[in-house]
Amino acid sequence: MPAVAAYAPGKVILFGEHAVVYGRPAIAVPVNQLRARAQVEADLNAPVGRIWIQAPDIGLSQTLDELPAEHPLAVAVRLTQEAVGAIRMPACKIRVSSTIPVASGLGSGAAVAVAMIRAVAAFLGHPLPDEQVCALAYEVEKLHHGTPSGIDNTVITYAMPVFFVKGQPIQRLRVGAPLTFVIGDTGVPSPTASSVADVRLAWQADPVAYEARFDRIAAIVTAARRCIEQGEARLLGELMNENQTVLQEIGVSSPALDHLISVARQSGAWGAKLSGGGRGGNMIACISAAEAERLRQALLAAGAVRAWITEVS
Ligand code: PMV
Repeated sequence: MPAVAAYAPGKVILFGEHAVVYGRPAIAVPVNQLRARAQVEADLNAPVGRIWIQAPDIGLSQTLDELPAEHPLAVAVRLTQEAVGAIRMPACKIRVSSTIPVASGLGSGAAVAVAMIRAVAAFLGHPLPDEQVCALAYEVEKLHHGTPSGIDNTVITYAMPVFFVKGQPIQRLRVGAPLTFVIGDTGVPSPTASSVADVRLAWQADPVAYEARFDRIAAIVTAARRCIEQGEARLLGELMNENQTVLQEIGVSSPALDHLISVARQSGAWGAKLSGGGRGGNMIACISAAEAERLRQALLAAGAVRAWITEVS
């Protein structure tokens, strides 16, 4: 049984985070220069069923049986095994690595799950279709943040720009003209579960105000879809600023995010906002391709711990 490897990209949410959990649309795109990789290799010297999992990025090197049953990596393996109908796994070593920063809104958990599911299924001789990979990765996402909308596993599995509504079939987004974005990482870890849980509490306390905010976000997302399809980058930037205003009202921005967003706007970005769960993690700015590297440097000088340029086309 030869070693098999599978990959999945990172992702960034352009519009609609948080509101998407409440049935409103959102837009996300893959970030192809960041990716997770999983490799599965038969271990001919080990007893049948011993699955060794190594994830050096998080300092993990254990057998599957030693991992807590609810560990996302263990769940990914077991769900895949069940999905392909394999009663026992041949002894193997699974090595997981990722260049996607953890807990920063770039989809590291979903990308690792997708890569792992694909690699294990292929190793067992039953590569799974994207639809099934996406559904299994969604189950793993639930361990990361309780009530996920499913946007992360969807954009990462299909690796294309998506207009996403929870529970509806995936809609591919046409991109009228290439768009350039700069992503800046505050370096502040932000577990999505806690910001999603806080928004839920706030929504329960004041459903009318929160539903109205989610509706405003939905209108921004719909307008943004038109801009992306028609290649209107400047207008798209303005919509990012509007989305950020509502995210601030929802309570998921932070001083570090606000700082980088304001630096981006002062450095020529057409618009900027947080991306993902918020409270930390990443912000994203829309800018002309010619100005992108200058903005990337400005964000690093302003305290971003990492910054990337990504093109959506
Ligand atoms: O923090 P991320 O990138 O995993 O994004 C979460 C997006 C939310 O809308 C806040 C939650 C969700 O499940 O859609």
